[in-house]
Amino acid sequence: MEYFGFCKGISQMNMPDTIYSDMYEGYYAKFYDSLVKNDDFDIDFYQELSEEYGKEVLELACGSGRVLIPLLKRGLQIHGVDLSTHMIDILKAKCKKKNLTPEIYFGDMCTFKCNKKFDMVILSHISISLLESHQQRVQLFNNVYKFLLKEGGIFVFNFVDYSKKMHSSGELKPNYYFNPSKKAYTILFEKVDLELQKVFVNLYSEEVDSTGGIKRFVGSSCKNIITKESIDEILTDIGFTVVKEKNISTQEGLIKFYVLKK
Ligand SMILES: C[S@@+](CC[C@H](N)C(=O)[O-])C[C@H]1O[C@@H](n2cnc3c(N)ncnc32)[C@H](O)[C@@H]1O
Repeated sequence: MEYFGFCKGISQMNMPDTIYSDMYEGYYAKFYDSLVKNDDFDIDFYQELSEEYGKEVLELACGSGRVLIPLLKRGLQIHGVDLSTHMIDILKAKCKKKNLTPEIYFGDMCTFKCNKKFDMVILSHISISLLESHQQRVQLFNNVYKFLLKEGGIFVFNFVDYSKKMHSSGELKPNYYFNPSKKAYTILFEKVDLELQKVFVNLYSEEVDSTGGIKRFVGSSCKNIITKESIDEILTDIGFTVVKEKNISTQEGLIKFYVLKK
């Protein structure tokens, strides 16, 4: 956990009723789920690809099902894997409510193996930037190519070239999220470190509980700065062919999609 600025100050105060977690655990797993619930900028694109390449799909880092659930509803046979049991629990609860029964696995996208191979493997919402090193990204691409894709299958992933977006180190302007019905709010802080090629993320939330008391939550995550050049270098070494590139404009900025064929 790396705390800076405001959250560092809070963490040093040992405040009562304060819970610390990763961004995809505990309170922040639920926060992430509600934050992205209306984000559907990429769903049609995955569906179009499945019409061309096949319906047997695996989503790596599937989280709480932002992509997986709508694609299941559209008739794709989609399985999911994630490294957070909290995100998986939210996903499973949502599926149960909707009478959907996908196979969901706990695992690391870099090493996950399955007893079957897929027409399409998806890695969405810039999740590749959660991998800490170039070596881990190489491991991911190798794993998808060798163990998860059928011959002729595709790997679709996306990333933001933060090196084009962030030109100096330092803290960015915070973002605020208010949830009046729950009497809760969250502040999201980001700190760019160009030397380490990382963007540190901190979150601070307060929520009024049923007794009128205040609960505090502090969260953290880290996005790794990936350039197009570093991705291209990996692709040519592994043997993937780039069959499509697409840019989609979102709140995070311009997201670049790659479609790679085995
Ligand atoms: C940005 S969320 C994306 C969730 C979902 N795909 C979406 O589009 O909303 C990132 C997810 O990646 C998961 N994750 C992080 N590192 C992982 C890894 N090495 N292997 C599998 N999942 C991972 C986190 O637990 C989290 O659920």
